[in-house]
Amino acid sequence: MSVKAYDLTGRTAFVTGAASGIGRATAALLAEAGATVHGADRDTQGLHETATLIKQHGGTAHIHTVDVADRGQVTDAVATAVATSGRLDIMAAVAGIMHSSPVLETRDEDLDRVWSVNFKGVLYACQEAARTMIASGTRGSIVTMASGAVDTGGPGLLCYGAAKAAVVQLTKTLANEVGRHGIRVNAVAPGWIRTPMTTRHDESAQAHTESLMVRMAPLGRVGESEDVAHAVLHLASDASAFTTGQILRPNGGVAMPW
Ligand SMILES: NC(=O)c1ccc[n+]([C@@H]2O[C@H](COP(=O)([O-])OP(=O)(O)OC[C@H]3O[C@@H](n4cnc5c(N)ncnc54)[C@H](O)[C@@H]3O)[C@@H](O)[C@H]2O)c1
Repeated sequence: MSVKAYDLTGRTAFVTGAASGIGRATAALLAEAGATVHGADRDTQGLHETATLIKQHGGTAHIHTVDVADRGQVTDAVATAVATSGRLDIMAAVAGIMHSSPVLETRDEDLDRVWSVNFKGVLYACQEAARTMIASGTRGSIVTMASGAVDTGGPGLLCYGAAKAAVVQLTKTLANEVGRHGIRVNAVAPGWIRTPMTTRHDESAQAHTESLMVRMAPLGRVGESEDVAHAVLHLASDASAFTTGQILRPNGGVAMPW
């Protein structure tokens, strides 16, 4: 083993949620490690910005405008990526949405929307990736995006946390089912990370959360998208060749405190 295990030259990665935050940082880092990156998102403008970023650093990027909650769109985009690049080695299923509502105020439409994007969207990406890898005999890596919310019963996080808990279940079950094909499946469960998802709130709530994180985290700072992207790179690369069905928690040493 050497640091060359992190080299992704010649590999193709498909990254959902690549238009923003953690997905953008992941797409950029995998490209920097040498992979050809296919970024998928419903935000076309954001995808263009990510592709520009990758190309400015000498990487190769393709973009796909996709609603991950639509199985047909995911199937078509993965097929297009494979037709374009000839292979699929890495799937990073990062796209997701936040939703917060107390249990007693949670409506069917909240549950359905969050489940569709945060669970079904990951499931479709995993299924397409695993089918493609099995058919081509590729010993690939699939990385899902869970959350520290699966470790807590944070107020308001019923829909979000339940969907992320289902992502963890999917990760472990799929890892068992495809391991004999040499395909690895792992989850990343970040703590609070400063991204557009977490900075859309009002400024005082934002400042309160950040100061809470700084006080509670043994590492004494909030997380950045790049912290999570490095966890994805580890799981996507041969550096984690004997790791599957696991949850990696980049969270500064603390689970989500609320
Ligand atoms: N930021 C955090 O603190 C944190 C913590 C734990 C887990 N996560 C997870 O990390 C992932 C990325 O979050 P982020 O913080 O970078 O958020 P973000 O809002 O910056 O990025 C999410 C991306 O997903 C895309 N997306 C949303 N719904 C989509 C859909 N239906 N189809 C296609 N694309 C869609 C958005 O357009 C956006 O580009 C999410 O799954 C989130 O749940 C984030």
